[in-house]
Amino acid sequence: MAGLIPQSFIEDLLTRVDIVEVIDSRTPLKRAGKNYTGLCPFHQEKTPSFSVSPDKQFYHCFGCGAGGNAISFLMDYDSLEFVEVIEQLASQAGLVVPQGNQRDDQKTKQRATIYDLLQKVDEYYQEQLRSHNEAEAAKQYLKARGLSGQLAKQFGLGFAPPGWQNLLHRFPEEEQRKMLHQCGLLVDKEDGGRYDRFRHRITFPIRDQRGRAIAFGGRVMGDDKPKYINSPESPVFHKSQELYGLFEARKSNRDLKRIIVVEGYMDVIMLAQHGFTETVATLGTAINTSHLERVFRNCSEVIFCFDGDRAGKAAAWRALEAASPIMTDGRRAKFLMLPEGEDPDSLVQKDGPERFGQRLQEAQSLSDYLFSQLMQNIDMDGLDGRAQLAAEARPLIQKFPRGVFYQLMVDKLAELTGMSKPDMASYLNTGKKSEPMRQQPSRPQSSRSQNSAQQSAGPGFQNNRPVSRAPVNKGFRQHQLPSLDSATMLLLHSPSLANVAPDLSGLDAENNPELALLIELITRFKQDPQMNIGILMSHWQGTPKGARVVQLASRQTLLEEEMFEPEFLGAIQRLRESEGEARFKALSQRPLKSLSAEEKVELREWLAHRS
Ligand code: GTP
Ligand code: MN
Repeated sequence: MAGLIPQSFIEDLLTRVDIVEVIDSRTPLKRAGKNYTGLCPFHQEKTPSFSVSPDKQFYHCFGCGAGGNAISFLMDYDSLEFVEVIEQLASQAGLVVPQGNQRDDQKTKQRATIYDLLQKVDEYYQEQLRSHNEAEAAKQYLKARGLSGQLAKQFGLGFAPPGWQNLLHRFPEEEQRKMLHQCGLLVDKEDGGRYDRFRHRITFPIRDQRGRAIAFGGRVMGDDKPKYINSPESPVFHKSQELYGLFEARKSNRDLKRIIVVEGYMDVIMLAQHGFTETVATLGTAINTSHLERVFRNCSEVIFCFDGDRAGKAAAWRALEAASPIMTDGRRAKFLMLPEGEDPDSLVQKDGPERFGQRLQEAQSLSDYLFSQLMQNIDMDGLDGRAQLAAEARPLIQKFPRGVFYQLMVDKLAELTGMSKPDMASYLNTGKKSEPMRQQPSRPQSSRSQNSAQQSAGPGFQNNRPVSRAPVNKGFRQHQLPSLDSATMLLLHSPSLANVAPDLSGLDAENNPELALLIELITRFKQDPQMNIGILMSHWQGTPKGARVVQLASRQTLLEEEMFEPEFLGAIQRLRESEGEARFKALSQRPLKSLSAEEKVELREWLAHRS
């Protein structure tokens, strides 16, 4: 497929790199039998649950479910892009990354220059706040809101001056303007011209984990509407993944103990000013599971701190739903709902840091919040009410991973409804939408049993040759149809593609685990928009499916995201054609008499379709 660093090169590279060395140089590992273990760098823990296998060249954390190969480790640990990791590993191994086609080279370069350009825009806005002759009102506004100059500087606040063509004039080169347009900082006019998106607003740079400006938010200095505007999605900005303030929070705290999630930019900054430097916000979108995975990579506790109004309550409930599938042991989520009419910004100024800190201390636990919300409209005195509570809580509780936390929820629900704990446990085990698949990893035979078996063909051996040692990839074809491969890979990169996938139920997946995997992924991603690879892997770790998913997911594409959908649909189209062709061939080669009525219809339809 166009746009890939050749898979053969990546595989070659991975055979020369030792994952133990890569990881050990960043976080200390100890030998433990065949494997190495250590404290997981992706979540906080006191006892090691992070394991690295030199045989499999794979790492996995039993605590948080993180797992992958040397490439994915470096991407996560050093916050690098795929291509950067490949380049780094290649140069250490003395290899040269083969040149992709020219278009790809250009794209990689272009991405680098977009970051450069956005940095220039960031500097420009900040400079305007300092020196533009109309910036006084902006400074006054911020001051009136209680913001200190130091915090404004720390968060890089700036000023987009009035006027439609400031950026246009500042960046006269056509190349630059094209990129500004790609990032949504320039907007198309009907007559074919362009104008500045941010005008006469205070600007908030949105930074990625490495501190690079990737987008901006802009606020009016009064009550005009819309109050905020934000950069749209772009090649470097994905709202569903980024958290405002995370870079600043990590910078201020070497060791984050917890992260506070609030709703607004100003809430983040004002809490930081009062000492709560561990605060982040989503970018005007609902918080999702990937956001929270990112939070939990930095610490084990999250406090959701939302307004007490209806919107805030809805946001809190969504946060609860997004957190539930990843509440593994050791992670905590709490809820602090503020009094009506207050937001974190106003309240911390009214309260002062001590009282506000007290409120955070007293935040409700996730389970208390869940049950209190459910019970709000239920009359718990009657039998009906208790049955209703059980019925409403069941689908929610079922989403939690099995562990201590799950058990506590089961016990709590038993207590509230007056059911016995075992009855409750079995009640919760029924009526599930889809049971996550759990297979034990196949245990490889030890080398000792192999040696002894060489002398006599004992159990596990046929014709004196060892039966295949249950390779992790069992059942999956070694050489895949490229279309099937790339459809699954793209889907893993961008699960929302599941929503545009055509119906594949007509294809025969029974004897094709690859195809069955694709269909299952589509179904799962469709059913649960919060599903991601991290979660999938926690179900499939150690299974052939899990191994295949890691393999495909660590295969990367240089395609721009906007090309994912057409590529995906194209791949599926080709897949249907080739699968259909094979079926047609099989049917058409059989004597007509031997075909069932349905098969005849199918054959006829296929012929009609082809002509
Ligand atoms: P102020 O205190 O009024 O400056 O805002 P805030 O930081 O308290 O934000 P608020 O709680 O009003 O809104 C939360 C977030 O929603 C903001 O940070 C924005 O990301 C987003 N938001 C708010 N208003 C708008 C709007 O009018 N348009 C868009 N696109 N986003 C908005
Ligand atoms: Mn506010």
